Formats: sequence, structure tokens, C-alpha cells
Amino acid sequence: MSSTTPDTFKGWVSHSATSPLTFTTFHPKPFTETDIEVSITHCGICGTDIHTLRSGWGPADYPCVVGHEIIGIVVRIGTGVATLASSPPSRDIRLGDRVGIGAQSMSCLRGDCSACADGQENYCARMTGTYNSRYADESKAYGGFATRWRGPAHFAFRIPHSLPSAEAAPLLCGGVTVFAPLRKYGAGSGKSVGIVGIGGLGHLGILFARALGCDRVVAISRSSSKRKDAIEGLGAHAFIATDEEEKWARTHSRSLDLIICTVDASDMPLTQYLRLLKVHGTFVQVGAPEKPLPQLTAGSLIQKGAKVTGSNIGSPEDIRSMLQLAADKRVLPWIQTRPMEDVNAAVADMDAGKARYRYVLVNEMEKQARL
Ligand SMILES: NC(=O)c1ccc[n+]([C@@H]2O[C@H](COP(=O)([O-])OP(=O)(O)OC[C@H]3O[C@@H](n4cnc5c(N)ncnc54)[C@H](OP(=O)(O)O)[C@@H]3O)[C@@H](O)[C@H]2O)c1
Ligand SMILES: [Zn+2]
Ligand SMILES: [Zn+2]
Repeated sequence: MSSTTPDTFKGWVSHSATSPLTFTTFHPKPFTETDIEVSITHCGICGTDIHTLRSGWGPADYPCVVGHEIIGIVVRIGTGVATLASSPPSRDIRLGDRVGIGAQSMSCLRGDCSACADGQENYCARMTGTYNSRYADESKAYGGFATRWRGPAHFAFRIPHSLPSAEAAPLLCGGVTVFAPLRKYGAGSGKSVGIVGIGGLGHLGILFARALGCDRVVAISRSSSKRKDAIEGLGAHAFIATDEEEKWARTHSRSLDLIICTVDASDMPLTQYLRLLKVHGTFVQVGAPEKPLPQLTAGSLIQKGAKVTGSNIGSPEDIRSMLQLAADKRVLPWIQTRPMEDVNAAVADMDAGKARYRYVLVNEMEKQARL
């Protein structure tokens, strides 16, 4: 093992659904030979952080450190990482490397788990999320609003040199969450794709749909306030403002092969979104509202053989492919950096829908400590 580091970390800890995050100590998982430790330089703020902080999906396991779009520098490597059986690519991780960690920190990795054996660790029934989750030994997983991250090398990814750290951060969750279903459901040449909700995930959905070579990418948003960004900046071919255009679902009916829906509120016009699908088109829900989705009439599924599905982040292979595509095609999220000390204000602004389109927290202290 390389140098040792303290067993007490510092981070912006959440103690309840209503109190602000406070900079204080927490205890990471015990360091094992297949773990690495990272000095965190950047962490994006994802919609999931907001749901978790306010216990929106059920009571969070406080104390909690959220943040799962982590970029940092490797400062410690377990002795077993260089020969890691479960992940050959992770064997290349070296001290001083720049790596990213997304929304998943562990899965069972057992040969008798069909998800893990198929390289779909993101669907393992025993997955460990990067925060608000527990490892097999019951120790808590802590996320990236902190100065250090410690966890399994299997779920850490080297960042291609051409991707700047701040821009790379949102790719680790937001990027792969839209890339994985786009690729899986055939986004590419000859296909028309709709992206619903132009936020952190949605703007990346437009960028990746373009990078994958889709013929037509349609941004679907509530108002026209993001039209200019979507068309002139992100490269969407068309824009639908659902709260402003009358009969939009009829006007654009049967026009899309695939829809990725990133909407995080349950009061969405789901039936109308489905009207936009072509015959046998696919609708993929990735946004995770705290309340149930709207009711659907059977007709909205029957009349065109619509396929309705969901998608959970991405596998380690999805993450590696997504990072490579982002590096090759210059897929760079639109970000605004904020000092990590301002995390409470940044979280409030994210919750208010002000991000254009992702806030990335920067750990100035950590950067300076390394100089
Ligand atoms: N499946 C997964 O693995 C996965 C991974 C990461 C995140 N998520 C979830 O994905 C969701 C989005 O995350 P995010 O970081 O992209 O959040 P975000 O930046 O806040 O974007 C969400 C977008 O949803 C749209 N929206 C909000 N309320 C709406 C409503 N009532 N009706 C229609 N559209 C509405 C808005 O777009 P417009 O302003 O354009 O209308 C908003 O920008 C969250 O629920 C998060 O937990 C899921
Ligand atoms: Zn996320
Ligand atoms: Zn498994």
C-alpha cells in the first residue's frame, strides 16, 4: 500500500432534511486493498443530490455527504488494485492520476449475479450508491461534497487528458445517464430523438444525441426561455415549449423514434409526450420524481405499440465509452463553477432551477494544498 491517510475526512455534511450543510468530520469506509483514495478537486451538483438532501424519496441515512460527479487526484492505492480481477481497466490507476467517480461505488461483483456477470453492475440488486448507501460491511458510503473520497477502484475512471476537470465532473452521472439509454436504444444516423427537460441531464442529452450522429434532435422544455441555448448553443434541430405552444402534441405527433425524459416532477404531460413517438418508438424515463408518474390511458400504449422503459445511470463500460466519446467529439457540459465553501447557496440555486446547466463545486483548498 502507498502512504496512509487519516481515517477522518472533512466534508459538507447534511444532518437533516432542513438544516444547511456544515463543514465537519466524517468517517469513511475502512480502507481495503481494492480501494483507492482521491483528493477531490471538483464535484457537480446533480438533481439526485437535491432529492436526497430533502429526504424526498424517503428518509435519508443522515449524516450524509452527497455529490456523485466527483473528479480528483489519486493519493492512495490499495495493494490489490494493480491485479484487480473484477476490472482490468482499473489496474492502470496510478498515484497522481486524475479519476472520476459517479453515482455508484460498489455492486456485489459476484459471478452468480446476472447483472454483475453481464457487466451491468448498475442493475445489481446489491448496488452501493456513492452516498446515502452502505457497503457490504455496513459502513456508510460518503460522496463528493468533501475533500477526500475513498472507495473501490472498480468504480473509479481515469479521465482522458483532453477533458478539463470542471467539465468532466457532470459527465460521471449526468452524462452517462443520458448516454447509456441513447446508445442502448439506437440513437444515431437515421434517428429522430427528443430530450425532455433541458437541465443538467437534458442539455447533455442534446449534446450526446448530436455526438452520436442523430438526424434530428428535438429539445422539449416547458417554456421558450431555453430555446436559444438549445438551438444555437447545444445544437438541437427543433424546440417545443409545452406550456406555450397550443396543440404541440398533435402538431408533432409520431415524429420521434426515441425520447429520453429527464423531468424530475410528477406533474409532467406524460400522455402528450408519448404522442410524439413514432410507431414502436421508445420512451425512456431517467428523471426520478418524488411522487408517482401520471396515470396513462391504455390507448396511449396500444395505439402505436409504444415501449416505455427506464434507465439507471450506466455501467462502468458505459462510463468509459461515454468519456471516450466526450473526449473524441468534444462533448463539454455547460457549467458554472462555484467554490465548494458556497455549497449551500449553490444547492439552493440548483433547486430553484437557476443552473445553466450544471453547477460544479471547486475545492480551492484542496488545489492549494497540493501546490
Ligand atoms: N435515472 C438515473 O440514473 C438518474 C441519474 C441522475 C439523475 N437522475 C434524476 O434525473 C432528474 C433530473 O436531474 P437533473 O440533474 O437533470 O435536474 P435539473 O437540472 O433540475 O433538470 C430537470 C429538468 O426537468 C424539467 N422540469 C422540472 N419540473 C418540470 C415539470 N413539472 N414538468 C416538466 N418538466 C419539468 C426542467 O426542464 P425545462 O426547464 O426544460 O422544462 C428541468 O431543467 C432528477 O430527478 C434526478 O434525480 C436520474
Ligand atoms: Zn446524479
Ligand atoms: Zn451484483
